[in-house]
Parts: sequence; C-alpha cells; structure tokens
Amino acid sequence: MKRAVYPGSFDPVTYGHLDVIERAAEIFDVLIVSVLNNKEKTPLFSVEERVNILKEATKKYRNVQVDSFSGLLIDYAKDNDIHVAIRGLRAITDFEYELQIAQSNHKFSNGNLDTVFFITNLEYAYLSSSIVREFSSFNGDITQCVPDFVADLIYKKYGFKR
Ligand code: PNS
Repeated sequence: MKRAVYPGSFDPVTYGHLDVIERAAEIFDVLIVSVLNNKEKTPLFSVEERVNILKEATKKYRNVQVDSFSGLLIDYAKDNDIHVAIRGLRAITDFEYELQIAQSNHKFSNGNLDTVFFITNLEYAYLSSSIVREFSSFNGDITQCVPDFVADLIYKKYGFKR
C-alpha cells in the first residue's frame, strides 16, 4: 500500500488544494490530508473546523482520509509509517521555500521522508488561502476559489450575509 500525507494549513481549503488531492489520490493507495495545528498562528478556522471542512470536501474520494498534527512533519510521518509528503507548486516563487523544506525533511528524517510535488493546474496558479481570506474579509467574491459550502462558512466567519 502506497500511503502519502498532504500536510498544510488549509485555512481554508481551496480548489487548488482539492485539485492536488484529486491527482494525488489517483497515484497513491491512501492519501492522508493532515492539518497542521500551528499554535503560533491565529487561524480563520480552528483545526477541528478545518478537519470537518476537508472531510466534507473530500468525501467523494474513498482513499482520502483527513487528520491533524502538531509538531514536526517528519515525526508525524514516522509515527504513521508514511514515507511520502505531497506538496503543490504554483510558481517559481513557491519553489525555493518548498525545496528547502523538502531537503530538510529528507535530511532530518535520515532519508525516510521524500516529497512529491504536483504542479498546480494553471487554472488555480494564482490561488492561495491568504488570497481567499483577504478577498472574503472585504466581502469579495470567492465563489471561484472554494466550494460553495466553504464560501458560506467563510462569509459567516466574517459576518457577511450573502
Ligand atoms: O499550507 P502551508 O502553511 O504552506 O503548510 C506548511 C506545512 C504545514 C507543510 C509546514 O509548515 C510543515 O510541515 N510544518 C510542520 C512543522 C515542520 O515539520 N517544520 C519543519 C519543516 S518547515
């Protein structure tokens, strides 16, 4: 069984993430989408909310599971016997940061955690969770960025009725 973890903040999950999830789920037997519990950030959605949103957004994929983790990705991967991490690359600007993390994770896991990159679909190359938060916080239209039920939850968080 080829298992992989797709770690991230997913605050909120976007169509860009969902595109990576769909493509990774076709290649790996089991894909675990895992939400980082980052105590240093003040998120829009709690970890529990993000897990529930991801579960709903990925329910059509039978081999996708949703989880959360704290601490280092390499420790989470080791505890769960996972040797592949998935990340999406939108543009060259992502590359330097992702390269450093991937190399560090490979080094500090003694070669036990590799990273497989999916090049983001062109349609979503501009998209990020922070762009979604920025636009929606001013009641901008984010319906092309996230599933409708996620957009509803975001507008509700910011106190907008749509
Ligand atoms: O969606 P994001 O915020 O770009 O995801 C970043 C993430 C969660 C993949 C990365 O920050 C991470 O793996 N954090 C866990 C802590 C860790 O392992 N740090 C070492 C590599 S940065």
